[in-house]
Amino acid sequence: MHQASCILFLLALPIGSAWDHFQFDVTLFCNYYSRTKYNLKIEWWEYDSVLSGEDQITQAKVFKPNSGRYSFTMAGAMDGDEWLSKGYKPRAYISHDCTADQKRVDLDLTVVKLCKPPNTCHYRIIQDITNRSGSEEIEHNGFKENDMSPFADYP
Ligand SMILES: *[C@@H]1O[C@H](CO)[C@@H](O)[C@H](O)[C@H]1NC(C)=O
Repeated sequence: MHQASCILFLLALPIGSAWDHFQFDVTLFCNYYSRTKYNLKIEWWEYDSVLSGEDQITQAKVFKPNSGRYSFTMAGAMDGDEWLSKGYKPRAYISHDCTADQKRVDLDLTVVKLCKPPNTCHYRIIQDITNRSGSEEIEHNGFKENDMSPFADYP
C-alpha cells in the first residue's frame, strides 16, 4: 500500500511540474528600408516526430518592429505529458507584412534540430523574412541544452 502510493506520487510529479521546455532567441531581418515599421506576429508550436499532432508551446506575440534587424526572446512551457516522444521539431507560425506589396503573408518555419525531452532546449534562430511566405524547413543558428546563458550573437 505504501509502495503503491509512492509510485503514484512519482508518476504524478512530471505532470504537476510545468517548466520551460523551450527558449527561442530570435533575430529577424526585414530589408525594406523605405518603410520604417512593419507588422509581425509569431507563435511557436512543437511538431512531434513520432506521434502525430502539434502542440502550442508559446503564446502568440505581436510586434511592430523597425525594418532591419530585430531581436526578441520567447519561452514556452511544456506540461510533460508527452515524455515518450523521441523529440520535437519546433515550428514558428509567422504572419508579417514585410512584403513587396505590404500585404500580410503567412510564413511557417520548421527547425529541423530536434528537442529531446526532458531537456530544456535553447535555440538561436536568425532569419531574413523579407518578402518570404509559405512553409520551409530551416537550420538553427545555435543550440544549447539546459543552458539559458545568452548566445554571443544575441541580440
Ligand atoms: C515578392 O514575392 C512575391 C510572391 O512570391 C513575388 O511575386 C515578387 O516578385 C517578390 N518581390 C520582390 C521584390 O522580390
